[in-house]
Amino acid sequence: MHAVQLTAHSLSAFQSTELPDPQASYGEVLVRMRAATLNYADVAVATGAFPGATFPMVPVADGAGEIAALGAGVSGWAVGDRVVPHFMPGWQDGPMTPRKVAAMRGISLPGSLADYVAVPAHSLVALPAHLDFVQGAALPIAATTAWNAVRSASLRPGSVILLLGTGGVSIFALQFAKASGATVILASSSDAKLERARQLGADHLINYRATPAWDAEVLKLTDGRGVDLVVETVGEATIARSLNATAMGGTVFTVGILTGTAASIDLLPVIVKGLRIVGNSTGSVADLAEATRAIAAHRIVPVIDRVFGIADTSAAYTELSAGGRHFGKLAIVH
Ligand SMILES: NC(=O)c1ccc[n+]([C@@H]2O[C@H](COP(=O)([O-])OP(=O)(O)OC[C@H]3O[C@@H](n4cnc5c(N)ncnc54)[C@H](OP(=O)(O)O)[C@@H]3O)[C@@H](O)[C@H]2O)c1
Repeated sequence: MHAVQLTAHSLSAFQSTELPDPQASYGEVLVRMRAATLNYADVAVATGAFPGATFPMVPVADGAGEIAALGAGVSGWAVGDRVVPHFMPGWQDGPMTPRKVAAMRGISLPGSLADYVAVPAHSLVALPAHLDFVQGAALPIAATTAWNAVRSASLRPGSVILLLGTGGVSIFALQFAKASGATVILASSSDAKLERARQLGADHLINYRATPAWDAEVLKLTDGRGVDLVVETVGEATIARSLNATAMGGTVFTVGILTGTAASIDLLPVIVKGLRIVGNSTGSVADLAEATRAIAAHRIVPVIDRVFGIADTSAAYTELSAGGRHFGKLAIVH
């Protein structure tokens, strides 16, 4: 089969190659991969910021395809079914444990840039009928994370959520929040991106370059109350303002480290406002299945900014690592 392998810690160390076709063992299915989408974690693996990869390896955690063969002992799936394999096949449901999250596709297990992958049948979620393979490939990391964010604060009509930037997680969170009836405040560096967010339903828009004290603007927009939920995708540069922009009893759902991990924060607002700072590391297969049910029910369409051919894998990684050029997700097709 054809595959792309990452051969070293570099955004240009991708090599097109031929590998033996994998076989589906007991309890596994063979998936003909059709598309992949990139996450910051893939870039971190390629640059060495995320440990655990040994070279050469087939990269990219997220993908979608169709079942090509069933291993022994598999029931409930058929050849031709369109599926999304979760990237942490060992995390079926419930809270994380070190054992459940030990193996990750695109890091310690073969990822999505190969014609075929053999994965446990219990790690699959069916692709909703209204989505194509590229859109489906966006679900495992970004949609699951955004879903867990929105659930963590039990968003409902009248809730207010703050989203930072227009990357993959923020845009899925925007879509889930609007489906929950919540009001969305979204901050971006670009007026053009803010306009695209408005078209997706964002209620209040802030350009964080033009308005560096965006937390004060959020407080103004909420009559001084603050938001019920911030999806913290940025990290070190924004966490203090995120805490300031959150209402009493609100949740700061902390997932991102785009600007670094070493934050210095004032604990007073955390204590006085009784804030919940919730750390999150994506989610389980059950979380992906729930997110996918919500996507099917609300006919949410993942936002794909650009699609690269597999021969342009290096360009796709470079585009994501540039930061801030895309809106939603970047995809790679086979
Ligand atoms: N822990 C988890 O469960 C989990 C899961 C998925 C992702 N993540 C992490 O979450 C982060 C975001 O992931 P992603 O896939 O959504 O990234 P992404 O698609 O690369 O989006 C990044 C966006 O963040 C915005 N941004 C950058 N600096 C900002 C700042 N100072 N203030 C406000 N916005 C800023 C930019 O939006 P504009 O261009 O609009 O300004 C940029 O496009 C990454 O660190 C990723 O590793 C964590």
